[in-house]
Amino acid sequence: MENGENKPKHIRKIPEGMIFEDAASLPVAALTALNGLRLCGNLRGKTVLINGATGGVGHFAVQIAKAKGAVVTGVCSTRNVELAKQLGAQSVIDYTSENFISSGKQYDVIFDAYGKLKFAEASRALTQKGIFLTTLFPPSLIFKAVLLRFLGGKKIFPANMRKKPEDYAEIEKLIEDGSVKPVIEQIYPLSQTKEAFTALEQGKVRGKIIIQV
Ligand SMILES: NC(=O)c1ccc[n+]([C@@H]2O[C@H](COP(=O)([O-])OP(=O)(O)OC[C@H]3O[C@@H](n4cnc5c(N)ncnc54)[C@H](OP(=O)(O)O)[C@@H]3O)[C@@H](O)[C@H]2O)c1
Repeated sequence: MENGENKPKHIRKIPEGMIFEDAASLPVAALTALNGLRLCGNLRGKTVLINGATGGVGHFAVQIAKAKGAVVTGVCSTRNVELAKQLGAQSVIDYTSENFISSGKQYDVIFDAYGKLKFAEASRALTQKGIFLTTLFPPSLIFKAVLLRFLGGKKIFPANMRKKPEDYAEIEKLIEDGSVKPVIEQIYPLSQTKEAFTALEQGKVRGKIIIQV
């Protein structure tokens, strides 16, 4: 991770007052949520649904969208309904008992932080010029996304990480002013790295898990 002059390239000083574990939770998940939502423009007063509202990307997305003035709906399983509310979701849909796609309600932005939702499904719950934002952006979706851009209706954007210094500065400010707080479900010692990855692969983590080196 060094450039031609042997200077470190991907290093950011931890802001004063931020603990190591919180700092470690930010790249990649928080910057992915931040950049995805940035692409959606001004979110003030917009209705934003976060699918997978309490996972790594999702729990940051709920808090960031709220901080940007959006009216946030979170989608999660029963055990995470309370957490989604605590993160700032004004309404919460438990996907084990309700399908937001067939509810008849429409949203300005649907952010699939879970990464398994198809555009064809999400589209039914989008407003006429609504945006489908997704962490899963296979090549097959690129053509559709480009085409939709020219048609002027619904759009598809990828939620990818961007790591410019101003992105770090923005997320640090949101943490400093209390708008965003990383949720860390568990801290594993280095010797339990395998267990940490097993937990991650099960897709049921609340917020982030951290490996302590
Ligand atoms: N983490 C990152 O830094 C990052 C960055 C870029 C892209 N991605 C991609 O983004 C996706 C999510 O990553 P993640 O790390 O945020 O995952 P994660 O922490 O495992 O979170 C996944 C979330 O999805 C929820 N979920 C499970 N089944 C669902 C369903 N049927 N409907 C709606 N939500 C459901 C889970 O909530 P319940 O427990 O309530 O079911 C969980 O909160 C992955 O495809 C990953 O590759 C991740």
